[in-house]
Amino acid sequence: MRNQWLMLAACFWVLFMLMVASKFIPLTFRDKDSYSIKSRPMTWSAVAQARKLPVAEANVETLKPTGKVLEDTAHKPQIQIDRMELLRNVCRNASLSNLTHTTVSKFVLDRIFVSDKHKILFCQTPKVGNTQWKKVLIFLNGHFPSINKIPEHLVHDNEKNGIPRLSSFSKPEIQERLNSYFKFLIVRDPFERLISAFKDKFIINPRFEPWYKHDIAPAIIRKYRKNHTETRGLQFEDFVRYLGDPHRRQLDLQFGEHIIHWVSYVELCAPCEINYSVVGHHETLEADALYILKEAGIDHLVSYPTIPPGITLYNRTKVQSYFSSISKRDIRRLYARFKGDFKLFGYQEPDFLLN
Ligand SMILES: *[C@@H]1O[C@H](CO)[C@@H](O)[C@H](O)[C@H]1NC(C)=O
Ligand SMILES: *[C@@H]1O[C@H](CO)[C@@H](O)[C@H](O)[C@H]1NC(C)=O
Ligand SMILES: *[C@@H]1O[C@H](CO)[C@@H](O)[C@H](O)[C@H]1NC(C)=O
Ligand SMILES: *[C@@H]1O[C@H](CO)[C@@H](O)[C@H](O)[C@H]1NC(C)=O
Ligand SMILES: *[C@@H]1O[C@H](CO)[C@@H](O)[C@H](O)[C@H]1NC(C)=O
Repeated sequence: MRNQWLMLAACFWVLFMLMVASKFIPLTFRDKDSYSIKSRPMTWSAVAQARKLPVAEANVETLKPTGKVLEDTAHKPQIQIDRMELLRNVCRNASLSNLTHTTVSKFVLDRIFVSDKHKILFCQTPKVGNTQWKKVLIFLNGHFPSINKIPEHLVHDNEKNGIPRLSSFSKPEIQERLNSYFKFLIVRDPFERLISAFKDKFIINPRFEPWYKHDIAPAIIRKYRKNHTETRGLQFEDFVRYLGDPHRRQLDLQFGEHIIHWVSYVELCAPCEINYSVVGHHETLEADALYILKEAGIDHLVSYPTIPPGITLYNRTKVQSYFSSISKRDIRRLYARFKGDFKLFGYQEPDFLLN
Protein backbone atom coordinates (compact mmCIF):
# COMPACT_ATOMS: atom_id res chain seq x y z
CA MET A 1 0.00 0.00 0.00
CA ARG A 2 2.74 2.40 0.95
CA ASN A 3 4.57 1.53 -2.28
CA GLN A 4 1.49 2.39 -4.33
CA TRP A 5 1.28 5.83 -2.70
CA LEU A 6 4.93 6.39 -3.38
CA MET A 7 4.44 5.40 -7.04
CA LEU A 8 1.50 7.77 -7.41
CA ALA A 9 3.45 10.62 -5.80
CA ALA A 10 6.38 9.92 -8.11
CA CYS A 11 4.06 9.98 -11.11
CA PHE A 12 2.64 13.37 -10.13
CA TRP A 13 6.14 14.68 -9.58
CA VAL A 14 7.25 13.62 -13.02
CA LEU A 15 4.10 15.07 -14.58
CA PHE A 16 4.64 18.34 -12.76
CA MET A 17 8.26 18.55 -13.85
CA LEU A 18 7.27 17.85 -17.46
CA MET A 19 4.74 20.67 -17.35
CA VAL A 20 7.33 23.08 -15.99
CA ALA A 21 9.91 21.96 -18.49
CA SER A 22 7.53 22.28 -21.43
CA LYS A 23 7.23 25.99 -20.68
CA PHE A 24 10.93 26.38 -21.34
CA ILE A 25 11.86 23.81 -23.92
CA PRO A 26 10.14 25.38 -26.95
CA LEU A 27 11.60 28.74 -26.03
CA THR A 28 15.10 27.36 -25.95
CA PHE A 29 14.59 25.66 -29.30
CA ARG A 30 13.08 28.78 -30.79
CA ASP A 31 15.97 30.88 -29.60
CA LYS A 32 18.48 28.50 -31.03
CA ASP A 33 16.66 28.30 -34.32
CA SER A 34 16.32 32.03 -34.71
CA TYR A 35 19.58 33.36 -33.54
CA SER A 36 22.31 30.83 -34.12
CA ILE A 37 23.53 31.73 -37.54
CA LYS A 38 26.28 29.45 -38.54
CA SER A 39 29.74 30.94 -38.09
CA ARG A 40 28.23 34.44 -38.07
CA PRO A 41 27.93 35.49 -34.45
CA MET A 42 25.40 38.28 -34.08
CA THR A 43 26.28 41.40 -32.18
CA TRP A 44 24.51 41.85 -28.88
CA SER A 45 22.65 44.91 -30.03
CA ALA A 46 21.25 42.96 -32.96
CA VAL A 47 20.07 40.17 -30.70
CA ALA A 48 18.57 42.63 -28.23
CA GLN A 49 16.75 44.35 -31.05
CA ALA A 50 15.42 41.06 -32.30
CA ARG A 51 14.16 40.08 -28.87
CA LYS A 52 12.31 43.34 -28.47
CA LEU A 53 10.46 42.85 -31.71
CA PRO A 54 6.99 41.47 -31.07
CA VAL A 55 5.75 38.93 -33.55
CA ALA A 56 2.58 40.87 -34.32
CA GLU A 57 4.52 43.95 -35.30
CA ALA A 58 6.74 41.98 -37.64
CA ASN A 59 3.67 40.75 -39.43
CA VAL A 60 2.09 44.13 -40.05
CA GLU A 61 4.36 45.00 -42.93
CA THR A 62 4.31 41.53 -44.33
CA LEU A 63 0.60 41.00 -44.50
CA LYS A 64 -0.11 43.84 -46.87
CA PRO A 65 -2.86 42.63 -49.15
CA THR A 66 -1.56 42.33 -52.68
CA GLY A 67 -4.98 42.27 -54.27
CA LYS A 68 -4.01 39.26 -56.31
CA VAL A 69 -5.42 35.80 -56.12
CA LEU A 70 -2.66 33.24 -55.75
CA GLU A 71 -2.91 30.01 -57.64
CA ASP A 72 -3.21 26.72 -55.86
CA THR A 73 0.25 25.23 -55.17
CA ALA A 74 -0.73 22.08 -57.00
CA HIS A 75 -1.28 24.08 -60.18
CA LYS A 76 1.96 25.64 -61.29
CA PRO A 77 1.54 28.40 -63.86
CA GLN A 78 2.17 27.05 -67.36
CA ILE A 79 4.90 29.64 -67.94
CA GLN A 80 6.90 28.24 -64.99
CA ILE A 81 6.50 24.66 -66.22
CA ASP A 82 7.59 25.68 -69.73
CA ARG A 83 10.64 27.54 -68.40
CA MET A 84 11.91 24.58 -66.42
CA GLU A 85 11.31 22.23 -69.34
CA LEU A 86 13.21 24.53 -71.70
CA LEU A 87 16.07 24.79 -69.21
CA ARG A 88 16.35 21.01 -68.90
CA ASN A 89 16.17 20.50 -72.66
CA VAL A 90 18.82 23.08 -73.47
CA CYS A 91 21.07 21.65 -70.73
CA ARG A 92 20.86 18.29 -72.53
CA ASN A 93 21.71 19.76 -75.96
CA ALA A 94 25.24 18.55 -76.67
CA SER A 95 25.99 21.14 -79.34
CA LEU A 96 25.56 23.89 -76.72
CA SER A 97 27.23 22.13 -73.82
CA ASN A 98 30.32 24.37 -73.81
CA LEU A 99 28.08 27.37 -73.26
CA THR A 100 25.65 25.85 -70.79
CA HIS A 101 27.80 23.76 -68.47
CA THR A 102 30.27 24.73 -65.80
CA THR A 103 31.63 23.21 -62.61
CA VAL A 104 30.09 23.99 -59.23
CA SER A 105 33.28 25.69 -58.10
CA LYS A 106 33.93 27.92 -55.11
CA PHE A 107 33.16 30.86 -57.39
CA VAL A 108 29.62 29.48 -57.88
CA LEU A 109 29.17 28.57 -54.19
CA ASP A 110 30.21 32.14 -53.33
CA ARG A 111 27.28 33.43 -55.39
CA ILE A 112 24.67 31.45 -53.47
CA PHE A 113 23.20 32.90 -50.27
CA VAL A 114 21.65 30.69 -47.62
CA SER A 115 18.66 31.00 -45.31
CA ASP A 116 18.80 27.95 -43.04
CA LYS A 117 15.79 29.11 -41.10
CA HIS A 118 13.59 28.92 -44.18
CA LYS A 119 15.63 26.42 -46.20
CA ILE A 120 16.24 28.75 -49.13
CA LEU A 121 19.19 29.14 -51.50
CA PHE A 122 19.37 32.28 -53.63
CA CYS A 123 21.91 32.60 -56.42
CA GLN A 124 22.89 36.22 -56.90
CA THR A 125 22.88 37.55 -60.47
CA PRO A 126 23.98 41.20 -60.27
CA LYS A 127 22.01 43.84 -62.21
CA VAL A 128 18.80 41.87 -61.88
CA GLY A 129 17.27 43.39 -58.75
CA ASN A 130 19.24 41.27 -56.30
CA THR A 131 19.49 43.91 -53.60
CA GLN A 132 15.78 43.60 -52.99
CA TRP A 133 15.96 39.81 -52.69
CA LYS A 134 18.82 40.05 -50.24
CA LYS A 135 16.73 42.47 -48.19
CA VAL A 136 13.91 39.92 -48.19
CA LEU A 137 16.29 37.27 -46.82
CA ILE A 138 17.78 39.63 -44.23
CA PHE A 139 14.30 40.63 -43.08
CA LEU A 140 13.38 36.96 -42.60
CA ASN A 141 16.17 36.64 -40.03
CA GLY A 142 14.01 38.81 -37.79
CA HIS A 143 16.38 41.58 -36.77
CA PHE A 144 14.54 44.41 -38.54
CA PRO A 145 10.94 45.55 -38.14
CA SER A 146 10.51 46.12 -41.88
CA ILE A 147 12.41 45.85 -45.16
CA ASN A 148 12.70 49.64 -45.38
CA LYS A 149 14.59 49.73 -42.09
CA ILE A 150 17.47 47.60 -43.40
CA PRO A 151 20.44 49.92 -44.03
CA GLU A 152 21.72 49.80 -47.62
CA HIS A 153 25.35 49.27 -46.57
CA LEU A 154 24.41 46.19 -44.55
CA VAL A 155 22.75 44.55 -47.57
CA HIS A 156 26.06 44.55 -49.42
CA ASP A 157 28.19 43.68 -46.40
CA ASN A 158 28.28 39.94 -46.93
CA GLU A 159 30.25 39.39 -43.72
CA LYS A 160 27.69 41.05 -41.50
CA ASN A 161 24.29 40.77 -43.16
CA GLY A 162 23.45 37.39 -41.64
CA ILE A 163 22.96 35.53 -44.91
CA PRO A 164 25.98 33.26 -45.26
CA ARG A 165 27.31 32.09 -48.58
CA LEU A 166 26.96 28.43 -49.43
CA SER A 167 30.76 28.26 -49.74
CA SER A 168 31.10 28.83 -45.97
CA PHE A 169 29.69 25.36 -45.23
CA SER A 170 31.39 21.97 -45.27
CA LYS A 171 31.05 19.68 -48.27
CA PRO A 172 28.33 17.44 -46.78
CA GLU A 173 26.45 20.51 -45.51
CA ILE A 174 26.58 22.03 -49.00
CA GLN A 175 25.32 18.82 -50.57
CA GLU A 176 22.48 18.51 -48.09
CA ARG A 177 21.36 22.08 -48.78
CA LEU A 178 21.60 21.68 -52.55
CA ASN A 179 19.50 18.53 -52.32
CA SER A 180 16.74 19.71 -50.05
CA TYR A 181 16.42 23.52 -50.02
CA PHE A 182 14.27 25.73 -52.24
CA LYS A 183 16.63 27.19 -54.85
CA PHE A 184 16.08 30.16 -57.13
CA LEU A 185 17.72 32.79 -59.30
CA ILE A 186 16.47 35.75 -61.32
CA VAL A 187 17.50 36.47 -64.92
CA ARG A 188 16.80 39.18 -67.49
CA ASP A 189 17.65 39.76 -71.13
CA PRO A 190 21.43 39.13 -71.25
CA PHE A 191 22.31 42.16 -73.41
CA GLU A 192 20.19 44.51 -71.32
CA ARG A 193 21.99 43.23 -68.25
CA LEU A 194 25.38 44.00 -69.86
CA ILE A 195 24.21 47.55 -70.65
CA SER A 196 23.12 47.94 -67.05
CA ALA A 197 26.48 46.66 -65.77
CA PHE A 198 28.36 49.02 -68.07
CA LYS A 199 26.30 52.03 -66.94
CA ASP A 200 26.41 51.10 -63.28
CA LYS A 201 30.11 50.35 -62.99
CA PHE A 202 31.75 52.60 -65.58
CA ILE A 203 29.42 55.57 -66.07
CA ILE A 204 27.41 56.21 -62.90
CA ASN A 205 29.18 54.08 -60.27
CA PRO A 206 26.71 54.95 -57.50
CA ARG A 207 28.50 53.22 -54.64
CA PHE A 208 31.82 54.76 -55.54
CA GLU A 209 33.92 51.72 -56.22
CA PRO A 210 36.94 53.44 -57.76
CA TRP A 211 38.61 50.26 -59.01
CA TYR A 212 36.19 50.01 -61.96
CA LYS A 213 37.32 53.32 -63.41
CA HIS A 214 40.90 53.28 -62.21
CA ASP A 215 41.99 49.67 -62.73
CA ILE A 216 39.51 47.67 -64.79
CA ALA A 217 38.60 50.26 -67.44
CA PRO A 218 42.23 51.10 -68.34
CA ALA A 219 43.10 47.39 -68.59
CA ILE A 220 40.21 46.79 -71.02
CA ILE A 221 41.07 49.89 -73.04
CA ARG A 222 44.72 48.86 -73.32
CA LYS A 223 43.81 45.51 -74.80
CA TYR A 224 40.61 46.17 -76.78
CA ARG A 225 40.47 49.77 -77.96
CA LYS A 226 40.75 50.04 -81.74
CA ASN A 227 40.87 53.78 -82.21
CA HIS A 228 44.00 55.00 -80.49
CA THR A 229 43.19 58.68 -81.02
CA GLU A 230 40.11 58.15 -78.84
CA THR A 231 41.01 59.32 -75.34
CA ARG A 232 37.67 59.16 -73.51
CA GLY A 233 37.10 56.66 -70.72
CA LEU A 234 35.79 53.16 -71.33
CA GLN A 235 33.30 53.09 -74.21
CA PHE A 236 30.57 50.49 -74.63
CA GLU A 237 32.38 49.38 -77.79
CA ASP A 238 35.54 48.49 -75.81
CA PHE A 239 33.47 46.66 -73.23
CA VAL A 240 31.66 44.61 -75.91
CA ARG A 241 34.92 43.66 -77.58
CA TYR A 242 36.36 42.48 -74.24
CA LEU A 243 33.25 40.44 -73.39
CA GLY A 244 33.12 38.82 -76.83
CA ASP A 245 36.74 37.66 -76.68
CA PRO A 246 36.88 33.89 -76.14
CA HIS A 247 40.40 34.34 -74.71
CA ARG A 248 39.61 36.94 -72.09
CA ARG A 249 40.16 34.53 -69.21
CA GLN A 250 43.51 35.97 -68.20
CA LEU A 251 42.02 39.40 -67.81
CA ASP A 252 39.02 37.99 -65.90
CA LEU A 253 41.38 36.34 -63.41
CA GLN A 254 43.11 39.66 -62.95
CA PHE A 255 39.77 41.40 -62.26
CA GLY A 256 38.82 38.83 -59.62
CA GLU A 257 35.34 38.83 -58.15
CA HIS A 258 34.36 42.09 -59.87
CA ILE A 259 33.52 40.11 -63.01
CA ILE A 260 30.28 38.94 -61.36
CA HIS A 261 28.65 42.05 -62.82
CA TRP A 262 29.09 40.85 -66.39
CA VAL A 263 29.92 37.12 -66.60
CA SER A 264 27.13 34.83 -67.81
CA TYR A 265 24.38 33.34 -65.65
CA VAL A 266 25.91 29.98 -66.49
CA GLU A 267 29.21 30.95 -64.89
CA LEU A 268 27.53 32.56 -61.88
CA CYS A 269 24.89 30.00 -60.96
CA ALA A 270 25.59 26.72 -62.83
CA PRO A 271 21.92 26.32 -63.86
CA CYS A 272 22.56 22.98 -65.59
CA GLU A 273 24.39 21.48 -62.60
CA ILE A 274 22.19 22.79 -59.82
CA ASN A 275 18.54 21.76 -59.93
CA TYR A 276 16.92 25.15 -59.33
CA SER A 277 13.32 25.09 -58.15
CA VAL A 278 12.31 28.34 -59.86
CA VAL A 279 13.86 30.76 -62.34
CA GLY A 280 12.35 34.23 -62.08
CA HIS A 281 12.44 36.69 -64.98
CA HIS A 282 13.06 40.38 -64.33
CA GLU A 283 10.65 41.22 -67.16
CA THR A 284 7.78 39.52 -65.31
CA LEU A 285 9.07 40.20 -61.82
CA GLU A 286 5.78 41.22 -60.27
CA ALA A 287 4.16 37.86 -60.92
CA ASP A 288 7.39 35.90 -60.46
CA ALA A 289 8.19 37.43 -57.08
CA LEU A 290 4.77 36.39 -55.77
CA TYR A 291 5.28 32.91 -57.12
CA ILE A 292 8.77 32.58 -55.62
CA LEU A 293 7.63 33.72 -52.17
CA LYS A 294 4.77 31.25 -52.30
CA GLU A 295 6.88 28.31 -53.51
CA ALA A 296 9.52 29.11 -50.89
CA GLY A 297 6.78 29.03 -48.24
CA ILE A 298 7.42 32.56 -47.02
CA ASP A 299 4.57 34.49 -48.64
CA HIS A 300 2.82 34.81 -45.26
CA LEU A 301 5.95 36.35 -43.70
CA VAL A 302 7.19 38.89 -46.22
CA SER A 303 6.27 40.63 -49.44
CA TYR A 304 8.61 41.77 -52.19
CA PRO A 305 9.22 45.56 -52.10
CA THR A 306 7.00 47.56 -54.44
CA ILE A 307 8.31 47.57 -58.00
CA PRO A 308 8.16 51.02 -59.65
CA PRO A 309 6.03 50.69 -62.78
CA GLY A 310 7.82 50.02 -66.06
CA ILE A 311 11.37 49.59 -64.77
CA THR A 312 11.57 45.85 -65.29
CA LEU A 313 10.26 45.89 -68.88
CA TYR A 314 12.61 45.07 -71.72
CA ASN A 315 13.51 48.28 -73.56
CA ARG A 316 14.37 47.45 -77.15
CA THR A 317 14.98 51.11 -78.03
CA LYS A 318 17.67 51.31 -75.36
CA VAL A 319 19.38 48.11 -76.51
CA GLN A 320 19.26 49.32 -80.11
CA SER A 321 20.80 52.66 -79.27
CA TYR A 322 23.65 51.16 -77.24
CA PHE A 323 24.54 48.73 -80.01
CA SER A 324 24.01 51.16 -82.91
CA SER A 325 27.69 52.07 -83.11
CA ILE A 326 29.03 48.54 -82.55
CA SER A 327 30.21 46.51 -85.54
CA LYS A 328 28.17 43.45 -86.58
CA ARG A 329 31.23 41.29 -86.09
CA ASP A 330 31.61 42.37 -82.46
CA ILE A 331 27.89 41.89 -81.78
CA ARG A 332 28.06 38.39 -83.27
CA ARG A 333 31.03 37.52 -81.08
CA LEU A 334 29.28 38.86 -78.02
CA TYR A 335 26.19 36.82 -78.81
CA ALA A 336 28.32 33.73 -79.32
CA ARG A 337 29.74 34.15 -75.80
CA PHE A 338 26.31 34.66 -74.19
CA LYS A 339 24.31 32.29 -76.37
CA GLY A 340 23.99 29.82 -73.49
CA ASP A 341 22.16 32.39 -71.37
CA PHE A 342 19.85 33.33 -74.26
CA LYS A 343 18.96 29.70 -75.00
CA LEU A 344 18.63 28.36 -71.44
CA PHE A 345 16.24 31.08 -70.34
CA GLY A 346 14.28 31.54 -73.55
CA TYR A 347 15.51 34.98 -74.63
CA GLN A 348 15.17 35.75 -78.33
CA GLU A 349 18.38 36.01 -80.34
CA PRO A 350 18.71 39.79 -80.89
CA ASP A 351 18.73 39.51 -84.69
CA PHE A 352 17.36 43.07 -84.99
CA LEU A 353 20.89 44.16 -84.05
CA LEU A 354 22.45 42.07 -86.78
CA ASN A 355 20.32 42.93 -89.82
C1 LIG B 1 20.58 22.25 -79.95
O1 LIG B 1 20.94 23.61 -80.12
C2 LIG B 1 21.19 23.97 -81.46
C3 LIG B 1 21.75 25.40 -81.46
O2 LIG B 1 20.86 26.29 -80.83
C4 LIG B 1 19.91 23.83 -82.28
O3 LIG B 1 20.15 24.18 -83.63
C5 LIG B 1 19.41 22.39 -82.17
O4 LIG B 1 18.15 22.29 -82.80
C6 LIG B 1 19.28 21.97 -80.73
N1 LIG B 1 18.99 20.55 -80.64
C7 LIG B 1 17.95 20.07 -79.97
C8 LIG B 1 17.82 18.59 -79.98
O5 LIG B 1 17.15 20.79 -79.41
C1 LIG C 1 34.02 22.93 -76.54
O1 LIG C 1 35.25 23.41 -76.02
C2 LIG C 1 36.33 22.56 -76.27
C3 LIG C 1 37.55 23.12 -75.57
O2 LIG C 1 37.30 24.39 -75.06
C4 LIG C 1 36.56 22.47 -77.77
O3 LIG C 1 37.64 21.60 -78.03
C5 LIG C 1 35.29 21.92 -78.43
O4 LIG C 1 35.44 21.92 -79.81
C6 LIG C 1 34.10 22.76 -78.06
N1 LIG C 1 32.90 22.12 -78.53
C7 LIG C 1 31.93 22.77 -79.12
C8 LIG C 1 30.74 21.97 -79.52
O5 LIG C 1 31.97 23.98 -79.32
C1 LIG D 1 38.74 58.01 -83.37
O1 LIG D 1 38.42 58.83 -82.26
C2 LIG D 1 38.48 60.23 -82.50
C3 LIG D 1 38.26 60.96 -81.18
O2 LIG D 1 37.02 60.59 -80.61
C4 LIG D 1 37.45 60.58 -83.57
O3 LIG D 1 37.52 61.97 -83.85
C5 LIG D 1 37.70 59.76 -84.84
O4 LIG D 1 36.67 60.00 -85.77
C6 LIG D 1 37.74 58.29 -84.50
N1 LIG D 1 38.14 57.51 -85.67
C7 LIG D 1 37.43 56.50 -86.13
C8 LIG D 1 37.98 55.79 -87.31
O5 LIG D 1 36.38 56.12 -85.59
C1 LIG E 1 14.87 18.48 -59.52
O1 LIG E 1 13.91 18.98 -58.59
C2 LIG E 1 12.58 18.58 -58.88
C3 LIG E 1 11.68 19.20 -57.84
O2 LIG E 1 11.94 20.57 -57.72
C4 LIG E 1 12.46 17.06 -58.85
O3 LIG E 1 11.15 16.70 -59.24
C5 LIG E 1 13.47 16.46 -59.82
O4 LIG E 1 13.47 15.06 -59.70
C6 LIG E 1 14.86 16.99 -59.54
N1 LIG E 1 15.78 16.49 -60.57
C7 LIG E 1 17.00 16.06 -60.31
C8 LIG E 1 17.80 15.62 -61.47
O5 LIG E 1 17.44 16.04 -59.16
C1 LIG F 1 13.74 53.17 -73.26
O1 LIG F 1 15.03 53.69 -73.42
C2 LIG F 1 15.09 54.93 -74.11
C3 LIG F 1 16.55 55.23 -74.41
O2 LIG F 1 17.37 55.00 -73.31
C4 LIG F 1 14.41 55.97 -73.23
O3 LIG F 1 14.46 57.24 -73.86
C5 LIG F 1 12.96 55.55 -72.98
O4 LIG F 1 12.34 56.43 -72.09
C6 LIG F 1 12.90 54.15 -72.44
N1 LIG F 1 11.52 53.69 -72.44
C7 LIG F 1 10.91 53.27 -71.34
C8 LIG F 1 9.52 52.82 -71.52
O5 LIG F 1 11.48 53.23 -70.25
